[in-house]
Amino acid sequence: MQTITQLEMLRKAVAQLRAKGGTVALVPTMGALHEGHLTLVREAASRADHVAASIFVNPTQFGPNEDLDAYPRQLQEDAEMLEQEGTALLWAPSVGEMYPDGFASSISVSGVSSGFCGADRPGHFDGVATVVCKLFHQVLPDIACFGEKDWQQLAVIRTMARDLDLTRPYARDIIGIPTVREADGLAMSSRNRYLSEHDRSAAASLPREMREAIARIEDGQHVGRTLAALEDALLGAGFSSVDYADLADAASLEVLSELGDRPGRLLVAARIGGTRLIDNMAVGKP
Ligand code: PAJ
Repeated sequence: MQTITQLEMLRKAVAQLRAKGGTVALVPTMGALHEGHLTLVREAASRADHVAASIFVNPTQFGPNEDLDAYPRQLQEDAEMLEQEGTALLWAPSVGEMYPDGFASSISVSGVSSGFCGADRPGHFDGVATVVCKLFHQVLPDIACFGEKDWQQLAVIRTMARDLDLTRPYARDIIGIPTVREADGLAMSSRNRYLSEHDRSAAASLPREMREAIARIEDGQHVGRTLAALEDALLGAGFSSVDYADLADAASLEVLSELGDRPGRLLVAARIGGTRLIDNMAVGKP
């Protein structure tokens, strides 16, 4: 595996990979890799001939009071994991390489970016869309894999790719990979390592209570009351606040007050011990 930190070198490496023939899959990450990320890499490898991964802790998607400085960085360890998975190329640029002096552009996807994490984290999805667009242009992949763990992010990237014609001839497919969970159901996240032992075990109430709420909604119980009960249950289990707990249309992310015929999604963000956790699950017809 080649680890590349400069754009000029990346362009050469991508050309060399292309010269071998076959398709290229991109897996963008911010590092501190866990089984969720590695599952994306394996899925990418099953769908393309070569896998390129990126590790870049993107400052523009962090708010002023967020965990940019504390975000875990472990490039050497991550590179070893990626190498073991047969990754062909690791793109790990510095902040200066990605955003040279004078950098002044931004991509903003309206609609799907506005609610949920977009409302709680102003500018977050502009940062995500801009860096993912740059990554697509830098690596020129045939496909790119993203986790359903970040459901709204996936919707933003799909919308951007469609609107800005990034889906052809490269990044032809944006592939969503189901959330990988710990044994107790907690969605894997690089941020789980911030949790104390006590909060880590309380955090498992998030997926458990979400499943409970979904069963009630699918059973025809009142959506608003079920979601209020979900919030109460999370606060009772040790979460300090719930940023949102909503039922939405799975594709448009429009908030729903009742489950209709189209696939629904339960989306939750809640804080425990200073850490913000997000999760989402299917509701109703897949
Ligand atoms: P990061 O949080 O490192 O996640 C990288 C990719 O891994 C994302 O597509 C995310 O949805 C996926 N992922 C994380 N946890 C997962 C889990 N438990 N199961 C399945 N997939 C999971 O998301 C980002 O980085 C950034 O916003 C990025 C897209 C790289 C842009 O900077």
